[in-house]
Amino acid sequence: MTTKIEPGDTRVMTDTAKRMRVLMVIGSVRTGRFGHVPASWLAERARLRDDIELAITDLADLDLPADLGDKGRAAPSDVTALGDQIEAADAIVIVTPVYNRGYPASLKNAIDWFNSEWSATPVGFVSYGGRTGGIEAVEQLRTVFVELGTMTIRNVLSFPDFWEVFDESGVPADPARVSRAAGNFYDELIWWARALRPARLARQARR
Ligand SMILES: Cc1cc2nc3c(=O)[nH]c(=O)nc-3n(C[C@H](O)[C@H](O)[C@H](O)COP(=O)(O)O)c2cc1C
Repeated sequence: MTTKIEPGDTRVMTDTAKRMRVLMVIGSVRTGRFGHVPASWLAERARLRDDIELAITDLADLDLPADLGDKGRAAPSDVTALGDQIEAADAIVIVTPVYNRGYPASLKNAIDWFNSEWSATPVGFVSYGGRTGGIEAVEQLRTVFVELGTMTIRNVLSFPDFWEVFDESGVPADPARVSRAAGNFYDELIWWARALRPARLARQARR
C-alpha cells in the first residue's frame, strides 16, 4: 500500500538522510537467462549504501498478461502488486538484455500495464549483450520512458561481452572498476530521486 502524503507536507523532502526506495526490475524472463547475475551483484552494491532501500522484482516471477485489459475490469493481482511497487518507488533500475537490437517484450508488457505510477520517477538502466553491451535496448527504453513522464538518468551500467565481465560465481573480473561505475550510477539516481521527490508526493496526493 502507498502512504498518502498531503501536499505541503515537507517531512521527507527536507530529510536528506532518508533512504530512497529503489525498485530494481529484472526484465528478461528467458529460461537460463543471465539477467539475475548483474542484478544480484548490483543489488549487493546498493545494500552497502545508507541512502538506498532496495526491492527487486523479477518479471519471471509475475503473471502479467499480454492482454492489458480495459479500465472497467479489475487487474490481475500480480499487476496490482507491481503497480503498488512502482507507485511507491523513489527510483527505478531496469536490468535489460538486448534482443535483436531492442529490449525484451517482457519488459514492454510490464511497462505498458502502468502509466501515472511511473511519473516523476528517475529511471536508471543496466544493460548487457555482445559488443554493444545492450546500449540499443537502453536508447529505445529512454524513448518509451519519456512518454511516461520519468527522468532517465545519464549514467548507464552497460556490460559488453558480459560473459567476460562476470565470472561463474557472478563476481566481476575487475570489481574495482565496476564498483566505481555502480557508485556513480547510484549517486546520480539518488540525486534525481531527491530532486523529484516533491513531484512524486504531489502525484501520490492526487490519487
Ligand atoms: C532473441 C535474442 C536476440 C538477441 N539479439 C542480440 C543482439 O541483437 N545483440 C547482442 O549483442 N546480443 C543479442 N542476443 C544475445 C543476448 O544479449 C544474450 O543471449 C543475453 O544473455 C540475453 O539476456 P538474458 O540471458 O537475460 O535473456 C540475443 C539473444 C536472444 C535470446
